[in-house]
Amino acid sequence: MLLVMLAGASLAAAQSASSQATPAGRAAGEKIFRAHCAGCHGVAGVGGTGPSLTTGVFYHGSTDADLYKNITQGIEGTAMPDQFFTGAQIWQIVAYVRSISATPVRTKLPGNATHGAELFASKGCSGCHLVKGEGGVRGPDLSVIGSQRSVAHLRESITDPGAKVENAYWVAKVITKDGKNHSGFLMNQDTYAIQMLDFADGLRMVNRADFKDFGIDRGSSMPSYKDKLSAGELDDVVAFLAGLERPREKK
Ligand code: HEC
Ligand code: HEC
Repeated sequence: MLLVMLAGASLAAAQSASSQATPAGRAAGEKIFRAHCAGCHGVAGVGGTGPSLTTGVFYHGSTDADLYKNITQGIEGTAMPDQFFTGAQIWQIVAYVRSISATPVRTKLPGNATHGAELFASKGCSGCHLVKGEGGVRGPDLSVIGSQRSVAHLRESITDPGAKVENAYWVAKVITKDGKNHSGFLMNQDTYAIQMLDFADGLRMVNRADFKDFGIDRGSSMPSYKDKLSAGELDDVVAFLAGLERPREKK
């Protein structure tokens, strides 16, 4: 019974997938993509704060069913959101995503990744960032950053860290009535208290009643490396980061 249902469902899925794999279906998908996906994946899917979808590589599965699921349900534990579309619209989007990844675009980056890894340690990056379990926690874990962001975004993050700062990295600054200063990432807040990851001593709860002064800095706590890396060194670091890929899911 279950098998019959499963077979029925995948047959229906296959039919709907192919019914939209037409020039009209792809054009409709492109329109939806521009409105709902390009903000993160870039115009024509070349990447932005989200990964490029033109490389022909899908880390989270590449069958029609995988794409359908990832687009409707989002990808848990990542910044890829779930979004509501009708079945036909999703197949139009899938048809479009297929068309932009059909001729994979894999640009050979100019930098030297091995040298980039050395710079990552010697220039202090690893003091704030984890890569494969090693490093600091004052910035995002970069272990699979190459599959999460475009190369252009990586470059910008290094030369102009303040350009886009996710609210998880906004810095809360508190002065308490006893005159102590605390700064750290704001984890949670309610009417009575805030919870912060204090840069000096870890997770801390501060009652609002104890505030003398409280503010949130929406800039980046990462220093800009614009003048601290030569053009060649920047290429090397970017090549290193772009190569930090997520393992591909096997289904
Ligand atoms: C808020 C930003 C954002 C929006 C909006 C968004 N995505 Fe994503 N998407 C991401 C990120 C980030 C990832 C990478 C997830 C990871 O691996 O960490 C991703 C991953 C994916 C993947 C999986 C890629 C792989 O390697 O398997 C597909 C496919 C995808 N997005 C398609 C879409 C489509 C189609 C839309 C619009 C309907 C969309 N995304 C909207 C951010 C976004
Ligand atoms: C003092 C700590 C600190 C140092 C040192 C530091 N970073 Fe960061 N980095 C951060 C923080 C905090 C963020 C998140 C806020 C932001 O986007 O700027 C960040 C963001 C990033 C991002 C964007 C991540 C994303 O999810 O989009 C990249 C890439 C990055 N850093 C690379 C580097 C590299 C390469 C170096 C060394 C050349 C470096 N960082 C040095 C703290 C640091």
